[in-house]
Amino acid sequence: MELKGKRIALGVSGGIAAYKAAELVRLLVKQGAEVQVAMTEGASHFITATTFQALSGRPVFTDQWDQRMPNAMAHIDLSRQADLIVVAPASADFLARVAHGLADDLLATMVLARDCPLLVAPAMNRQMWENPATQRNVAQLRADGVGILGPASGEQACGEIGAGRMLEPEEIVDSVLVFFTPKLLAGRRVLLTAGPTFEAIDPVRGITNLSSGRMGYALARAARQAGAEVTLVSGPVALPTPAGVERIDVKSALDMQAAVMARATASDIFIAVAAVADYRVTHAAEYKLKKDEGGPPAFELVENPDILASVAALENGPFCVGFAAESHNLEAYAQAKRQKKKVPLVVGNLIQDGFGGDDNRLVLFDDHGVHPLAPASKAALARQLIEHIAHLTGIH
Ligand code: PMT
Repeated sequence: MELKGKRIALGVSGGIAAYKAAELVRLLVKQGAEVQVAMTEGASHFITATTFQALSGRPVFTDQWDQRMPNAMAHIDLSRQADLIVVAPASADFLARVAHGLADDLLATMVLARDCPLLVAPAMNRQMWENPATQRNVAQLRADGVGILGPASGEQACGEIGAGRMLEPEEIVDSVLVFFTPKLLAGRRVLLTAGPTFEAIDPVRGITNLSSGRMGYALARAARQAGAEVTLVSGPVALPTPAGVERIDVKSALDMQAAVMARATASDIFIAVAAVADYRVTHAAEYKLKKDEGGPPAFELVENPDILASVAALENGPFCVGFAAESHNLEAYAQAKRQKKKVPLVVGNLIQDGFGGDDNRLVLFDDHGVHPLAPASKAALARQLIEHIAHLTGIH
C-alpha cells in the first residue's frame, strides 16, 4: 500500500494502449491510491467507462458539462482533488493540445487548470512519435515541467517496430512511486550486493544457499526511489531489475568482490545484503565429476574474502551497512559481526524470517542502540531502512 491516501487523477486519451490503462488503475488501487478516471471521447472508442468505474470504484468523467458536478466545474473540481495527474496513454493529439494550452475537452481543461504535477505516458505509431511536430511538443512539455514517461520501443499494434509503445502499467506505477517518495538520498551513489553466490565444484555443480535476492532488490529499489544512483551487484537470482537501477550479474564470491571493489570508492553508501558463501572449492573440476571414479569426491575448501570488511577498511570508503542472518542469538551475533567487520550499522534478521519470501523482521544495530522494526514486507522494511541510513549519514 505504498500509495495509501494519494489522490491520482488518471487521464485516458484515445489509442489502442487505452486497454492497458485498466490494468494501471487496478495496480494503483492495489497500492492504496484513490484513482479518479477522466477519459477523452476518443478513449471511449477503445475501452468503456464502466470498466474504469468498476476498477476504481468511482464514477468516470468524459464530458466537461457533466451534470453530476453541481457547480458545472468538473475540470476545476477534478484537478483540484488530485495530488498528481497521470495521462496514460497520452496520444500525439493530446500532447499537442496540452503543449499549446488548449482546453477543448474535459481532460485537456483539467490539465490546463491543474495546480499539481503532471506525468504523461505517450503512446503512438513510431512515425507519429518521430514526427518533428510531436518532438517539438514533447520538448515544450518537458520545458513546462511535465514528466514524460517513455515511450518504450518494440512491436506496435500497427505491426511496425520502433519507439512509441506505452510503458507497461507496472513501469508507470513505478514512476508514480518515485514521484511520491521523499528524495532522501538525492545525489548519493549507493552500491549494494544481493542474492547468493555460487561456488563451482565442477561445470554444473556448486555450493550456494537459499537467498532469493528479494531483500537486496527491495533495498535497491527503495534507494532508487529515494533519489540515489544505484548499482546492484547481484548473485544468481530470478528477479527483474528494479527500474532505474544498474545491475551487474556475478556468480562467485570472487566475482562479487571484484565488481564491488571496482566501484566502492566511487560510492557514498555500501549495503551488503548478499549471502556470500564463506568457502569455495580450492580447485573446481574442469570436467563434470563422474560417480564411478573412485567413490565420493573429497573437496578442499578455502575461505572467501570478506567483501564487506574489505570495503569498510578502505580509506575514504563509503558508509557501510552489513546484514546478519542468524538462526538464534541474533543480537549477540549481529553485534559481534558489527565489531569484527568494523561497520557502523548491521541489520539483523532470523533465517526463518529473512530467507526467501516477501516479508521479513529486521533489527538494526548501530552506535545509538538497538532498533527493532515491526514485521512487514521487504519493500516496506527497505523504505524504513533507507530512511534510517539517510538519518545516520546526516543526509537528512
Ligand atoms: O535474499 P532473501 O531471500 O531476501 O534473504 C535476505 C537475506 C536473509 C539473505 C538477507 O537479509 C541477509 O541477512 N543477508 C546476509 C546473510 C548473512 O548472514 O551473511 P553473513 O553473516 O555471512 O555475512 C555478514 C555480512 O557480511 C553480510 O552483510 C554479508 O553480505 C557480508 N559478507 C559476508 C561474507 C563475505 N565473504 N563477504 C561479505 O561481504
